[in-house]
Amino acid sequence: MRCTSKAPAKIILLGEHWVVHGGYALASSLGLYCSAIGTYYPSIRVVVYSSRLKLTDTIYPSQKCKTLCNLARMIDYIASTLRRTPWPANIVIESEIPPGTGLGSSASTAVAVAATYFCIGGLDPSLEEVSRAAYEAEKVVHGNPSGIDNTIATYGGIILYSRTTGFKKLGKLNFPEARILIVDTGIERSTKNAVEKFTRRLTRLKQIANQLIEVQNNIVMEAVSAIKNKDIVYLGYLLDTAQGLLNSMGVSHPEIERIVHIARAKGALGAKLTGAGMGGSVIVLAEAQRVEKIKQTMEQLGYTTYVAEIGVEGVKIARETKTPL
Ligand code: MEV
Repeated sequence: MRCTSKAPAKIILLGEHWVVHGGYALASSLGLYCSAIGTYYPSIRVVVYSSRLKLTDTIYPSQKCKTLCNLARMIDYIASTLRRTPWPANIVIESEIPPGTGLGSSASTAVAVAATYFCIGGLDPSLEEVSRAAYEAEKVVHGNPSGIDNTIATYGGIILYSRTTGFKKLGKLNFPEARILIVDTGIERSTKNAVEKFTRRLTRLKQIANQLIEVQNNIVMEAVSAIKNKDIVYLGYLLDTAQGLLNSMGVSHPEIERIVHIARAKGALGAKLTGAGMGGSVIVLAEAQRVEKIKQTMEQLGYTTYVAEIGVEGVKIARETKTPL
């Protein structure tokens, strides 16, 4: 038997970091994918090969893991919730999502591997089971993840999310006259470090922390209305305001600020970091007729850009059963 699962990347439109502290965030899946191709492995082990990292790791027994210990934790979690001994598998991970760029590569990988592992065990997991398992892997990578990354990689679409209320799927982002361009700063950073830095700052600002979270929540709610009313100019202002706040919380970076300022100077409607910041990627909202010019400018300056589909479907699992001849 062979199982192949495919999970999308994500962009956070608004609310990263604040969402870790109970605020709302607005996120979308992105048409770049991580695939996990699983086959039965005649052993007691679960072995993973990552074609991007060009390495093989044993993730069960979990004490043997060297690099992909987040996935080892996830396999133990899946088996223990089912009260089963982990079953053997050989899983190949192929990803087109650049790591460390704020596009959720670790969550997409965890979601794809979880889905494939359930499938190899002959199970037909619910989306909730897959997302929950991937969250265990995310905890190893990020420390205190809000859960938004595994949620969006699992369910896809565009979601409004908070830790306490969970997620609500919104309709498609239907803006024929606007595009979202992703610009990679080329600076890889750790989400864990960024989350810790933001948290230290928010703790120090405790007298005004609740007001800041409230402002951010209002920005998110206004953005939901702007999307509904197709008011792209207003949405651009909201992205800019959110960027100002994230910068003031210490999670921007000179390269992020440079990209944001150049994009605005070239006529973007708004621009901000996406994901953890301190490097990673910037999202630029621009009118359809301007986006190509902004993209060219960024590429001339040496930045990698992506224009991928927004709001794509979440994880997909395909099972192939070979019938004996
Ligand atoms: C990372 O993609 C988003 C953060 O808000 C962390 C989290 O939500 O877990 C920075």
